[in-house]
Amino acid sequence: MLKSGDWALLVDPKGRRYLLRLKEGGRFGHHVGGVTHEQVMAAGYGGRVRTSKDAWLWVLRPSLEDYVLLMKRGATVTYPKDAAAIVLLLDLAPGERVLEAGSGSGALSLFLARAVGPEGEVVSYERRADFLTRARENVEAWGVQNVTFQHGDLAEAPLEPERFDAVALDLMEPWKVLSAATRALKTGRQLVLYLPNITQVVQAVSAAREEPLLLRRVLEVNHREWDVRPPVAHPHFRQVGHTAFLAHFTKIQPLRGEAAHEEQGQREPERGEGED
Ligand SMILES: C[S@@+](CC[C@H](N)C(=O)[O-])C[C@H]1O[C@@H](n2cnc3c(N)ncnc32)[C@H](O)[C@@H]1O
Repeated sequence: MLKSGDWALLVDPKGRRYLLRLKEGGRFGHHVGGVTHEQVMAAGYGGRVRTSKDAWLWVLRPSLEDYVLLMKRGATVTYPKDAAAIVLLLDLAPGERVLEAGSGSGALSLFLARAVGPEGEVVSYERRADFLTRARENVEAWGVQNVTFQHGDLAEAPLEPERFDAVALDLMEPWKVLSAATRALKTGRQLVLYLPNITQVVQAVSAAREEPLLLRRVLEVNHREWDVRPPVAHPHFRQVGHTAFLAHFTKIQPLRGEAAHEEQGQREPERGEGED
């Protein structure tokens, strides 16, 4: 039995999903007929409800993926498939402390917060007050308490050196905050950038050469969904196309003297590289 304040996901006969926060006296309207929140509470997760027009809706427990895709948005969210990969690349574990910017709608904050658990902490910077409010409301409404939101530009944030176990940046111009973010990261740990355009990746990788950062990988996470309803079985005709690139770096000890020189030499393009 569900109660007032719980979240529920209703799924209609065509697989369309609707997110509900249950409340006494609430009603969900749909073109296949309405249902009361009391009906949904009584059905429970995994059950079904019959609408006023005699159709059935599934009552499911929303996953974090459902929630971030259906919650209210300010800024565009980090897509869940990418957020999951960011958690992997950052090598997060329970109890760790992560630095994030910008908070946007709070979607990536929720994935990071889950990975570090209640003993860990996400510190999330956002320079726009309206987005910060949206992110905070989304995170609180999901019942998560280990995200500390900060209003301000990450480039100007008063961050203690080597305080964070990981850094995740989803913002337009990461090269402007890279020095501050790298300084705050523990040596040997991971920093990931989330960037929709390859031109941004190139600019960020160039900027990272000025920092103690080793480029590990640039990758895309591609999911290809299939429509399997025997005897129908083929890829969906419409797919989520490109979302963003992930650029993964590890913080290294600063190179000194000759080593820095050699490294710089290796980073220059080879003669003839790129020529026909
Ligand atoms: C695409 S949104 C982030 C979405 C977020 N990852 C999510 O999943 O909801 C980018 C955000 O970065 C913020 N931003 C851009 N530059 C920033 C900076 N230097 N410091 C703090 N926030 C910044 C923008 O205001 C915007 O809200």
